Amino acid sequence: MAKKTVQFPEGFVWGAATASYQIEGAWNEDGKGESIWDRFSHTPGKIQDGDTGDVACDHYHRWEADLNMMKEGGLKAYRFSTALPRILPQGRGRVNQAGVDFYSRLVDRLLELQIEPFLTLYHWDLPQSLQDEGGWPARPVVDAFMEYADVLSRALGDRVKNWITLNEPWVSAFIGYRLGHHAPGHEDLGEALAAAHHLLLAHGKVVPILRSNCSGANVGVTLNLTPQFPASPSFEDRDAATWMDGYINRWFLDPLVGRGYPQDMAKHYGDKMASVKEMDLDTVAVPVDFLGVNYYTRNISRSDRIPEAENSPRTVFRGDEVTEMDWEVFPEGLYRTLGRLHGEYGFPAIYITENGAAFEDRVNAEGQVDDPARVSYLRRHLEQVHRAIGIGVPVKGYFVWSLMDNFEWGFGYSKRFGLVRVDYRTLQRIPKQSASWYGKVVAENGISI
Ligand code: FCB
Repeated sequence: MAKKTVQFPEGFVWGAATASYQIEGAWNEDGKGESIWDRFSHTPGKIQDGDTGDVACDHYHRWEADLNMMKEGGLKAYRFSTALPRILPQGRGRVNQAGVDFYSRLVDRLLELQIEPFLTLYHWDLPQSLQDEGGWPARPVVDAFMEYADVLSRALGDRVKNWITLNEPWVSAFIGYRLGHHAPGHEDLGEALAAAHHLLLAHGKVVPILRSNCSGANVGVTLNLTPQFPASPSFEDRDAATWMDGYINRWFLDPLVGRGYPQDMAKHYGDKMASVKEMDLDTVAVPVDFLGVNYYTRNISRSDRIPEAENSPRTVFRGDEVTEMDWEVFPEGLYRTLGRLHGEYGFPAIYITENGAAFEDRVNAEGQVDDPARVSYLRRHLEQVHRAIGIGVPVKGYFVWSLMDNFEWGFGYSKRFGLVRVDYRTLQRIPKQSASWYGKVVAENGISI
């Protein structure tokens, strides 16, 4: 069958993403303060195999080679995050110039290579000293975050135009403070709700700071969105799906567009709700230029409110194709998510700030890594992005998670998401088959299907 090329709109942004703690290493070098992830990963039993981000991909020392590798791979944009404890080691007050300089050099070199920087201010590495003051559940963290955004955007705002305030506040708040699988490892719903509120507030407060320090800023926030599917048409399953949608998706989407917290969920949370001051929700609803969407999989909701035998038989089943994370491969969920955002929320623009898959890659006898499953995952998700653009969703760009294999949080180094393989013994990089495939997509501004 003849191959057909699906073309993306002119100017579509093609990139790959990383995050500071997952790649940098150098956890205590050049004046960097301790972060909650340093503390958490140094606590026995928290991370698979006792892994830590102490060295990670050693990107802090190898950044120049990594940027050259990106250029050779044909990337046009790079989403990275800055480590707050490199800039303000104690979370507020003294600025660590060496940290600012590191990101300043990185940005200069990206621009020289004509790779557009997309900077995420917060991808989970809060200074431990701010956690010692109470962390995200305590309101003063918001002022510290404003100070950080101000320092960084004054230093880089002449060169960085694309700013993402937060990465996945749901994960920071609920996995960090309710489920305890991420730093700081607490299990308290009240803390999680307060953390979520202060994250949103911090977002709302820093948007105007970024705009005033950076002329022509393109500012947004990134959410992890998971479409919910009831396992059957029963009332209980539909209700369970609505609940999960409220818990993960609507809790952040609604306040961002000025609708406040969803009433159904607020009622459910009752007296665990965060204290919300007058004007907070107006601050949160500051207009953004775009929404960043991280999409990996869907969720199928089955009610646990009634005995299984009394529920309707399941009609929706998880597909057999799963990634190494045990996440179902469900590309259509991305289309559904984008369509829903367009119909119900109407953000002026959307970037897919993360999409990708972990697989158990192997180096073959020739020293290469063939990863057809990852190529297939990316291709099928890009088809759905294209389909969404076709119905008018303003998707402006796409970033693969991740540029290279890295520290996958609680899973340590056991899950590989990269376009580039990292040998954690030698720190050698090997671009995978998916990297050259993606380079071609970028060059053609389209995919062959
Ligand atoms: C997202 C995170 C990212 C990475 C991927 C697999 O939730 O933002 O850092 O861990 O999942």
